[in-house]
Amino acid sequence: MHEAIARLRAEGLARIDQAATNEALEAVRLALLGRKGELTRLLRGLVDLEPAQRPAVGAALNELKLEFGAALGRRQSELAEHHTAAAVCDLTLPGLPPVVLGTAHPLPSVLEEICDIFYGMGYDRDEGPEVELEYYNFTALNFPPDHPARDLQDTFFLGTDILLRTQTSPVQVRTMERRSPPLAYVFPGRVYRNENADASHSSEFFQIEGLRVDRDISLVDLRETVAAFVGSFFGGERPTRFRPHYFPFTEPSVEVDMQCMKCGGRGCGICGQSGWLEIMGAGMVHPNVFKAVGYPDDAYTGFAFGMGIDRLAMLKYGIDDIRLFYENDLRFLRQFRGVL
Ligand code: DAH
Repeated sequence: MHEAIARLRAEGLARIDQAATNEALEAVRLALLGRKGELTRLLRGLVDLEPAQRPAVGAALNELKLEFGAALGRRQSELAEHHTAAAVCDLTLPGLPPVVLGTAHPLPSVLEEICDIFYGMGYDRDEGPEVELEYYNFTALNFPPDHPARDLQDTFFLGTDILLRTQTSPVQVRTMERRSPPLAYVFPGRVYRNENADASHSSEFFQIEGLRVDRDISLVDLRETVAAFVGSFFGGERPTRFRPHYFPFTEPSVEVDMQCMKCGGRGCGICGQSGWLEIMGAGMVHPNVFKAVGYPDDAYTGFAFGMGIDRLAMLKYGIDDIRLFYENDLRFLRQFRGVL
C-alpha cells in the first residue's frame, strides 16, 4: 500500500508540474482528487484494510491530499504569471509610436524669466482680472473721461463700464487699494486691444507691469532698476535711454529705449536705422493715482513701468512676427525645445 501511495505521489506531482494550461491543470486535479480520482479511490479502499493498518495509511493519504492541493495552487499561480508575461512580451504586436514630449510655450517661459529677474531684486508678484471695470483700467489711472484710449476702437467693451483690460496697469491700483507702502510688485498677464493683427500687433498679447512705492523713490531708482533688468534679460552691458513721453498715470513719463542688439547702435533694419529699440513705458506714479487709492498726500513717491512680453521675446529670440506666438504652428514651437 505504501508503495502505491509513493507511486501516486511521484506521478501526481509530475503531472501537476507538466500541466501547461489552466484546463490541463483542472483535468489533473479531477484525475487525482475528483470523485473518481485516484487518491479518492485509495481513500475509499481504506475499509478493505486490516483495522490495524488503517490509521497509518489514512494519515499518509491525507497528507498526500494536502500536498497535491498545495502543488495545484502553486502551479495555478505559475500559469497565471506566465500568461501575463507572455501577453506583455508578444513580439508579434506592432511597435509603440515614440512618446512625443511637448515644450513650454515661449511666452509663458519668457514671462517667468522676467518675473524671476524681479524676484531677485526683492519684488513680489500679483495678478488681476482680465475682465476689468472701466474704473480700474482707466478712471483710477487718471485717464480723462474723453481720452481716446477709452474709445471702442481700442477697447473691447463688454458692458457700459466693464471691458477686457487693455493694459496690466489696473493691477497697480487694485494692489495699492489693499496694501500700504513700502511695496515692490510685478503684475504679469494677458491684455486685449481691438486691433487688426499684423506682424507687430495682435488683439491679445502679454504685458508685465512693475510698481515700486516708498518714501523718497526717484527717477534714479527707476533708471537703475531698468538697467539691471535689461542687463539680466538681454545679457551684458546694454545702454538704455529715457525719452520724455505722456501717460496719464505717471508724471513725468518716459519711454525707455535699449541700444539695438543687432547693430550695436549703428542702425539697421530691426531698429529702423535709429540704433535704439523701445522696450517699455515708465514714469513716476501720478499723485492722482495715489489719491484714487487713498494714499496720504505727499508721503510717498513711486515709479511704475509696463512692458510687452511678446515684444521682449521677439527681440530676444529674433522673431519678426507676433502672430507666430498665437498660431500654434509646431514648426515654430519646436524651435524652443531645449532653448527655454
Ligand atoms: N500701460 C501702458 C501701455 O499699455 C504701459 C505703461 C507705461 C505702464 C507707463 C506703466 C507706465 O506702468 O508707467 O501702454
